[in-house]
Parts: sequence; C-alpha cells; structure tokens
Amino acid sequence: MVRTWAVSGVDLHLDLTGTRVRAALEAALRDAVRTGRLAEGVRLPSSRALAGDLGIARNTVADAYGRLVAEGWLTARPGSGTSVASRPVAAGRVPPPPVPRERPVRYDLRPGSPALSLFPRTAWLAAARRALNTAPAEELGYGHTRGLPRLRTALATYLARTRGVHADPERLVVCSGFTQALGLLAQVLRSRGATGVGIEAYGHRQHAEVLTAGGLRPRPVPVDAHGAVLGGSEAGALLLTPAHQFPLGMPLAAHRRAEAVRWAHDTGGLVIEDDYDGEFRYDRQPVGALQALAPDHVVYAGTASKSLAPGLRLAWLVLPADLVEPVGEAKRIADGHTSTLEQLTLSEFLTSGDYDRQVRRCRLAYRRRRDRLVTALRRDAPDVRVTGIAAGMQALLELPPGTDEDEVIARAARRGLALEGLRAYRRDTGDRGPALIVGYATPPEHAYTGALARLCAVLIP
Ligand SMILES: Cc1ncc(COP(=O)(O)O)c(C=O)c1O
Repeated sequence: MVRTWAVSGVDLHLDLTGTRVRAALEAALRDAVRTGRLAEGVRLPSSRALAGDLGIARNTVADAYGRLVAEGWLTARPGSGTSVASRPVAAGRVPPPPVPRERPVRYDLRPGSPALSLFPRTAWLAAARRALNTAPAEELGYGHTRGLPRLRTALATYLARTRGVHADPERLVVCSGFTQALGLLAQVLRSRGATGVGIEAYGHRQHAEVLTAGGLRPRPVPVDAHGAVLGGSEAGALLLTPAHQFPLGMPLAAHRRAEAVRWAHDTGGLVIEDDYDGEFRYDRQPVGALQALAPDHVVYAGTASKSLAPGLRLAWLVLPADLVEPVGEAKRIADGHTSTLEQLTLSEFLTSGDYDRQVRRCRLAYRRRRDRLVTALRRDAPDVRVTGIAAGMQALLELPPGTDEDEVIARAARRGLALEGLRAYRRDTGDRGPALIVGYATPPEHAYTGALARLCAVLIP
C-alpha cells in the first residue's frame, strides 16, 4: 500500500507497506526521521489532517505519534503540536570528528567580483516593481528564445552609444552569463567544422574549460605588451579581451586590432570579443569595441557580471548575421530563454538611465580604490610593480624576480587575506615572472583599508 501525504506546512511522500496500518505508519515515520528526510524540529501535521490525507482513522495516527514520542523520535508540546525530536548521540557512539575549518578569510583581494556592496538594491527593486506592474500577463509565459525584444532594443541602444557597437536588436541574443554564451558559440562553431579556438596565453580558467566541453581545442596565443600576438593563428576562432586583457590588463593595441580584423577577413575566422569590463576605464578615452571594425567577423559579448552582479547571470551577444539563427537555436535547446523577470528589470534599468548612473558610480569608486592601492604599494612595497590599472577592477602586481608566488599567497592566507597568483591564469605558453592579480573591487568598502594594510604587510618580506 503506497500513499501520498500532502498537507499544509509539510509535503512528504510516505510508503506504507503491509496491512497493519499503524505499524506501517510508525515504520515510515521512523525511517523518514532516521534518514534525515524529516529534519530535527520539523512540525508534523495534526493527527486529524494526516488521517484525512491518508484516509485512515485519526486514532491510528494519534497512537502512532504517541508511540514515536515515547521512543524519543518525536516530541509533543501542548499548543505547538508534534515535531521531530533532536537526536541525542547514543551512549557508546562516538560523535563524528568536527570538520576541520578552513582558516577564515577576513579580507579578500581575489579578482573576478565587482563591489557587491555597491549593488543598487533600491533602484533595482524599483525597476523590478515598475517592470512587473506594467508587464502584461503574457510576458510571464515562455518568452523569446533570443531575449525579450524590448531588452534587446534597450541593449542595442546602450551598446551603440557607449561602446560604439554596431548593434541591431535582431542580432542580439541574451544569455545566462558570458559563460553560457561562450558555450553556445563553441557548439555552433564545432557544428560548422571548427576544431580549435585561439585563446590568450593568460585568461579565465573556466573559459578554456567551456570551450573544451563544447568540443573545441583551446590553443593559447602569446600576449605581449600590446596584447595578443596573433601571428597567423590557425584556429577557426579567436577569443580575445581587447579592451582590457584579462588578467594582465593591457588594451589590444591599434595595430593588433587591425591584425585581428585582417585575420578574420582573410581566413573567414571569427573573433569573439569578451568586453567583460569595457565600461570601466579611468585614465583615457574608452577604447571602442573591436566589433565596430568588422561586425560580420566579430561577436561582441557583454555581461552584467561586472557592472551589476554576477548573481544576475545576464549577458548578451551581438552576432554576425549568419550566426543569429544557429546561436538562437542552441540557446533554445540549452534552456529555452533567460529568466524573463530579470530581463524585464534590466530593460527598465537601462531605459530609465539607472544603468548609466550605476556604471558612473562604480567607476568613481573603483578609480578611488585603484589610486589608494597604487599609493599604498608605492609607499610600503616599492619593489612591486603595478600595471594593468588603466581600466577594470583588477591590477597586476609584478613581484621581484625569484619571489615564490605560492609562498606569498600562503603567507597572506595565514593572515586572513585571500590572494591569487598569476600562475593560476596561465595557459601552457605563458612565460611571465611571479605576480599577483589583485581584485580591488572585491572587499566591501569598510574592509578595504584593512585589506590594503594586510597586503602591504604580506609583500614586505
Ligand atoms: C574575463 C571575463 N570575461 C567574462 C566574465 C563574465 O562571465 P559571466 O558573464 O559568465 O559571469 C568574467 C567574469 O569574471 C571574466 O573574468
């Protein structure tokens, strides 16, 4: 006999086997508590409700509860019903050893995160409210695979204005993060016969993994002071971070940009432009998107992970015409489309000017943080060379030759400071000396002074 129990507050499937209903109910409840399906403190339904649900006599349930209370599985308190009891450690049983705790991270200067404490909660909430108040009910159903048309229009307008992108809403695909976007591109390129993709010799670890999972072999290309050295790449596609090389920090020089476009024209190859932090430039005019030079050979990719928060999982591709249909189809198969509620809110956030305001606010905050980092290092750790700071939210700290990167990171960890070394971003051809990649946006505002002090202390041998 199998019965389902679904009552308010608790939803649980119980297998009642055998003809003796009370014994079966007791056994099923005991089993659910023992295996943890019913956790300590969970309140059980009243005997009346459970009896009604199972179609058995109320007394049978009350008797079963009574017996389990007597055995210590359940507790019953007047006024608060019957709940799962806490389980004392049985006499003679040795409690499991405590899980060794990692040394707590007090300060975090690892790269990758924007200042999450600057997330515009109030403005985002207001945008979400406005969006929900005005969205017709149909918009909450299955939506457009390539993204909400009004978001695509808002993004196209924004990208054309701020990054010079040739952005037609019909060529835009909204994705769940650049990570998904890259995976979709890899699939499409693979299905068209590509086998390899050129990637910068230093880069985001996960991106190489995503490309590999999509069936493409990442082939590292060297990076020098002018950015990626393309030199006749034989791969069918190139993944670049032209505005601000990740993680080294230099922009792709004008002659290298021209080379990349020429390569794409001559070979029919595709450049994927990862413009992850293109909005955050401090010392000079923003470098426009490479895509504007060759919209039919460059995929432009942007993300909200740096401008707003990675947790939103919102990103966008602007595609050459022939890739729109296959990438849209890959997106449909992957997950139908990205969450409509987030898309509605982002659309509202863009058109109201909140997105611009947030970018300007963060740009100012990051620039100040960057200046404080540079000043502190100049004063307290003058042997460390800081580069890659004209944009973005991470800096390259080149350590004196012979410094052991791992030893510096371990020393920092002992003092509660999380750091990351350049080696963690190296793909086999990288040949740079010891360095740290410092994410100066990561700590919350109140912890930044402490983080800087600890960084300098760790860097002084
Ligand atoms: C180089 C680079 N590109 C893109 C991204 C954004 O990825 P996603 O949109 O999946 O969060 C990141 C995030 O850390 C990054 O470091």
